[in-house]
Amino acid sequence: MKKILVTGGTGYIGSHTTIELLQRGYNVVIIDNLSNSRKSTVERIERITGKKITFYAIDLLDRDALRNVFQSHRFAAVIHFAAAKVLADSITNPLFYYRNNVEGTINLLHIMGEKGVENLVFSSTAAIYAASEISPLSEKAICCPDTPYGRTKYMCEQIIEDTHQSPQRLNGVILRYFNPIGAHPSGLIGEDAVINSDNLLPYVSAAAVGKIPYVKVYGNDYDTIDGTGVRDFIHVVDLAQGHLVALEKLLNDSGVYHYNLGCGRGYSVLQVIKAFEKASGKIINYKISGRRPGDLGTVFSDIKKIEQEYGWHPQYDIDDMCRHAYTWEKNRSLV
Ligand SMILES: NC(=O)c1ccc[n+]([C@@H]2O[C@H](COP(=O)([O-])OP(=O)(O)OC[C@H]3O[C@@H](n4cnc5c(N)ncnc54)[C@H](O)[C@@H]3O)[C@@H](O)[C@H]2O)c1
Repeated sequence: MKKILVTGGTGYIGSHTTIELLQRGYNVVIIDNLSNSRKSTVERIERITGKKITFYAIDLLDRDALRNVFQSHRFAAVIHFAAAKVLADSITNPLFYYRNNVEGTINLLHIMGEKGVENLVFSSTAAIYAASEISPLSEKAICCPDTPYGRTKYMCEQIIEDTHQSPQRLNGVILRYFNPIGAHPSGLIGEDAVINSDNLLPYVSAAAVGKIPYVKVYGNDYDTIDGTGVRDFIHVVDLAQGHLVALEKLLNDSGVYHYNLGCGRGYSVLQVIKAFEKASGKIINYKISGRRPGDLGTVFSDIKKIEQEYGWHPQYDIDDMCRHAYTWEKNRSLV
């Protein structure tokens, strides 16, 4: 079977995607510097799938180590997740973000070019869309990211497009994620970050199991159903399956394509908290605080393009997302 390199494969989305790849019969090699994930994820993926993974603890910035991996394996494609992702952190440490995300991607593309690997699926983000664009956001919305993190992703998109136009003829599918949440239904893997993100769900999960006293809700005076911010949440397994579909199209195609991956509708922060209460049977305390600078009232995706062109549709709803996230939260200290 074809061999796929997954960068950042012990991370949240990379680990769920690796499961889908293995279950589909692909061989998977993971590289990850473990800056935001744990080596034990490899064994847990192997437990879920009954398949073996080759894992290298290397950094994308280490070109020689990366080249050695490409010398030892012949890859049909690369799925590139490895990046630093915390928006607020990127404002404090922009140079780290540009180096890690942009230089890391350049190293990867460079070595793919040297070794004749032509196919790339790339993790991008809804954070590249201009704040002035009105939801639902289609892929045609204007891109004008307003954080260093978003800019690193937009730069990588442009680098991929330019590399397609060059003699290297790189082919790419660029997937712009909205807000992945939830966990694998097995309860054996889920979000297990080393570095705290700004995302809502880790806080809601932590409040449900009593690790924190309450969830901070930033703003309840937006023009939305209950005043709290509305976002597009997608189950991480649906997201992972989107990568599989993208990969399989890419292996039979050439070009660079962009797709949103979301659920195509919005849920307010309070709706998510209520759904989590229903899934967990726990009361989740929250406190309203002021709006966070830069946050928007409503952001959700238009996913017609990927639905029509790839036949991909999200399978899970918000109740599934919360139920699986809660199971994982209870299990994570045990597995
Ligand atoms: N989770 C989200 O909300 C979200 C939303 C939009 C886009 N994305 C993008 O999706 C991708 C995966 O996100 P995630 O949520 O799984 O994050 P994650 O932090 O769980 O996974 C990323 C993995 O990459 C590794 N990594 C980082 N820099 C590396 C480097 N230089 N060399 C090798 N490994 C490195 C980390 O150790 C981690 O395991 C990222 O590119 C992220 O920007 C995530």
